[in-house]
Amino acid sequence: MVELGVNIDHVATLRQARRTYEPDPVWAAVEAELGGADGITIHLREDRRHINDRDVEMLRKTVQCKLNLEMSLAPAIVDIAVKTRPDQATLVPELRQEITTEGGLDLVANDCRDVVKRLQAQGVLVSAFLDPIPRQIELAKQYGFDAVELHTGAYSNAKGAEAAKLLNELVEAGELVVSLGLRLHAGHGLNYHNVHPIAKMTGMHELNIGHAIVCRALFVGLRQAVREMKDLLKQG
Ligand code: PXP
Repeated sequence: MVELGVNIDHVATLRQARRTYEPDPVWAAVEAELGGADGITIHLREDRRHINDRDVEMLRKTVQCKLNLEMSLAPAIVDIAVKTRPDQATLVPELRQEITTEGGLDLVANDCRDVVKRLQAQGVLVSAFLDPIPRQIELAKQYGFDAVELHTGAYSNAKGAEAAKLLNELVEAGELVVSLGLRLHAGHGLNYHNVHPIAKMTGMHELNIGHAIVCRALFVGLRQAVREMKDLLKQG
């Protein structure tokens, strides 16, 4: 069955709106696990706009399912990741001005095989967050990544024929990921309405979903919101 990684950055964003102690992403991780999350995903950004160093340390100690750290290639962040040893690291691009991660990592411009090796030496499974572009996927294989997370943001924002076209691109990219022997992940912008075709993709291993789950959690609670998404993935 497709695994669900619950991204809890948005909980930390709410805390940072008041620079207080609540809501604590550590509590959110517990609730998500109780709802059936297979993983907890967090992004330690260089500007620490939501998740901070204390959260990473606490979550490393408390998360019992898989801890997936989204991270840029910034040397200071790589050092923290090597020290923290999350179960999984997802390498993403990072721009200061963006509201959220906008595009996939450009592996043509970033030969990051040393970072991949350093993390793998600590037992970390390393994934690349990529747009569904064959050349990028081939480079992920060449650089030694274990997995590719396909960026579903454009598909998630599209409608009708455009959404169908972008879904087709994702399906073809997913087939390439699997044929190269890499683990297939996907995420960004997925919600309760658009997740089904992505969950159904051949070889899909893991979806990382944050915003939609945290939004629903405001009304039904996080445990229930996670459970409902898990149920959808089971159907997929
Ligand atoms: N995967 C990656 C690599 C991301 O950067 C994000 C956003 O932090 C997500 C998944 C989750 O996206 P969303 O919050 O839109 O579900």
